[in-house]
Amino acid sequence: MTISASSLRVIGGTPLTGEVVVRGAKNLVPKAMVAALLGNTPSTLRNVPNVVDVDVVSGLLKLHGVGVERTDGVLTMDPGRVDHAEPAELNVHAGSSRIPILMCGPLIHRLGRAFIPDLGGCKIGDRPIDFHLDALRQMGAKVRKENDGLYIDAPGGLRGTQIELSFPSVGATEQVLLSAVLATGTTELRNAAVEPEIMDLICILQKMGAQITVHSNRVVRIEGVSELTGFDHWALTDRLEAASWACAALATKGDITVVGAEQEPMLTFLNVFRQVGGQFEVNDGGNGSAKSIRFWCPEGGQLNAVAIETNVAPGFQTDWQQPLVVALTQAEGLSIVHETVYENRLGFTQALNTMGAHIQVYRECLGGSTCRFGQRNFSHSAVISGPAQLHGAELAIPDLRGGFSYLIAALAADGTSTLHGLELIYRGYENFLAKLSSLNAKYEEL
Ligand code: UD1
Repeated sequence: MTISASSLRVIGGTPLTGEVVVRGAKNLVPKAMVAALLGNTPSTLRNVPNVVDVDVVSGLLKLHGVGVERTDGVLTMDPGRVDHAEPAELNVHAGSSRIPILMCGPLIHRLGRAFIPDLGGCKIGDRPIDFHLDALRQMGAKVRKENDGLYIDAPGGLRGTQIELSFPSVGATEQVLLSAVLATGTTELRNAAVEPEIMDLICILQKMGAQITVHSNRVVRIEGVSELTGFDHWALTDRLEAASWACAALATKGDITVVGAEQEPMLTFLNVFRQVGGQFEVNDGGNGSAKSIRFWCPEGGQLNAVAIETNVAPGFQTDWQQPLVVALTQAEGLSIVHETVYENRLGFTQALNTMGAHIQVYRECLGGSTCRFGQRNFSHSAVISGPAQLHGAELAIPDLRGGFSYLIAALAADGTSTLHGLELIYRGYENFLAKLSSLNAKYEEL
């Protein structure tokens, strides 16, 4: 995709109203693309958004000999010629993506080895990969760290085993799934993450021929099989982007219909949205129209303060937190947000304060259970006092969700704001400038 502008001038104060289309989940599509490496026939993925992360993974797959073609949201991937890895070029192509770590299992199965360049991704906490490497080691892999990245091989192949995660990490669960499906024997993963995107990945793997059982207590059992075919799959909608637009409707006192949005993966979000005072209407497509959810701010615009805690699914997803905090600056009273997934995902509140918000961050676990960040000096709880009149400011985008949140704040604020570093938003929000335009937002690309 072509990125047009890196900076944006936003003239705030106009309610966002209209309709936007949201396509496949950014947190599923790149992983589904990695799964295509495991098949012995081509795969087709549909509902693929035009975001930078998809370009990055397409580039990585091509370097590994996968034929990748893309037309209008449909991606075909032919892994017929996966016969070599090019470590030097991988460094360049991976950019800031963390997806390469998930290619370990598939590459070991296909080539007997994998090279993983130094990883990027959003700068939210340390984002370590120890769970990934421990799991791979437990399955028989040998990991060698060099200056340019990790060299991994498994002389005897990967084999099934019992793995228990100390935290239900999304990435580590995907790592185990993608490595165990073709391993020898059975793998039992305890304390697995069960986010909707993981369940969709499991559906893809099942279509390919994998044998995976998901038990009710975060236990996932994978019986290794000797080969997998390609898949044909419609990627689930991006519930994180859908929630971002919902929060934009609240913060700007607008009314946005998100076409593609589905109720079930958003259950927890919708409960909180309603508690805050937001209104929504679900169209489940039963009348032959496209599925959608309409989100709007109540008449008079009065919002309620809430206390929330982010958590792994089925809890309140951490990526919903930042856009919601912007809406909470407009709520009457004191809201409390306890971030329990990332130790450092409240840094963006400082910029909101420069725009007139009243947000204080605390090291204590506020408003709920104690989490693994309590007593560890991480500012991971926030108290938001509202409503506050936001005013325009000059803002440097820190990460994907933080960036979109700044955008929402700028749209809700009085006056003009300038945002720098839009590239980070392009990583996960398809066509967001065109969508803003269709919602009557006032902005100018710089
Ligand atoms: C994925 C999502 C991200 C979302 C997050 C949690 C993608 C591309 N990104 O990120 O949008 O916010 O899930 O839902 O799908 N951890 C370790 N060691 C590890 C791995 C993780 O300590 O080896 C910790 C992390 O530092 C973090 C927590 O576990 O505190 C959760 O991370 P994880 O669930 O793995 O997130 P990602 O898969 O990176």
